Amino acid sequence: MSPSPTASPRRALLAGVGGYLPRRIVTNDELALKLDTSDEWIRERTGIRARHIAEGEETAAFMGARAAEAALAAAGAGAREVDAIILATSTPDHAFPSTAVEVQALLGITRGFAFDVAAACSGFIYALAVAEGMIRAGQAEGVLVIGSEVYSRILDWSDRRTCVLFGDGAGAVFLHATREETGGRGVLSTHIHADGRHRDILYVDGAVGRRERPGHLRMDGQAVFRQAVTLLAAAVDEALAAHGLGREAVDWLVPHQANRRIIDAMGRRLGLPPERVVVTIDHHANTSAASIPLALAEAVGDGRIRPGDLVLMEALGGGLTWGSALVRM
Ligand code: COA
Repeated sequence: MSPSPTASPRRALLAGVGGYLPRRIVTNDELALKLDTSDEWIRERTGIRARHIAEGEETAAFMGARAAEAALAAAGAGAREVDAIILATSTPDHAFPSTAVEVQALLGITRGFAFDVAAACSGFIYALAVAEGMIRAGQAEGVLVIGSEVYSRILDWSDRRTCVLFGDGAGAVFLHATREETGGRGVLSTHIHADGRHRDILYVDGAVGRRERPGHLRMDGQAVFRQAVTLLAAAVDEALAAHGLGREAVDWLVPHQANRRIIDAMGRRLGLPPERVVVTIDHHANTSAASIPLALAEAVGDGRIRPGDLVLMEALGGGLTWGSALVRM
């Protein structure tokens, strides 16, 4: 006898995705006017051509709310269907309240709960992991998962080794509870990790709890690069192994956008042709926790990623933190 639908496990369906990018675009050539750098150096080492930089009212809360509205619209859902907002950021509007409750207010939501997640560039994968766990546990039905970042405000604009690498923006997904048999769609699993021994290769040297606030991003680029290639490969393998899947099962890789060479290495590991790897680093640069939902929004929006496709996501960031997620769209 087949189990009744109500007895089957719950799963988080990715019902809609959206993004917001600041209006102002800054090219490599524009940066080279003020810094000892060049478009050629930045493109060859990173794949970046341009980035969006926030201005005026474009804070993490403002951009997160715009991305959330786009995700809800794509899902055909209204604000009243949102039980929870989980927002990943390292650049909140305030120390408190959380940027998630600022977004809640901007969306006119007065029920449910909202909180931020701090996991640097892995923030979206972490927030997705928390959200899908809460949906599986029956603590929420509809959850907005948002990554929103204004790294332009924590960059040392005189340090060419870091400031050319990042951009601002926000991305969001709306997750809704479903039952596992609904065509196998939804978040299949998430896999998150941290190892604080590496906290000094990528960090911000200040915050409101320290004297030297507000702080700037500092990075040992080569050390991060070496760790990323090894740890992301393991995270990708872990996600597939959790479901007994071979790499040929993956339709799309939607990676965190930190460096084109790391993205290409992960695509090769999965045996994916380049056109099956979603790349936005050329025009977004590294938008930290926003990069995966922004890339997903672009590829769903232009019709590349379609319902039923199997999407593998992976990210690594300061901490170090890293992880992966497997989602049937
Ligand atoms: N323009 C021109 N020259 C630059 C430069 C820039 N923007 N940034 C650094 N350089 C110079 C360095 O000063 C160095 O010069 P030197 O040899 O005279 O000292 C030279 O380029 C090589 O620097 P290096 O740091 O060895 O370059 P790299 O090949 O490792 O590339 C990164 C640097 C940052 C692009 C690369 O290490 C990287 O992408 N790392 C991973 C970073 C990452 O993913 N971070 C985010 C994780 S969320």
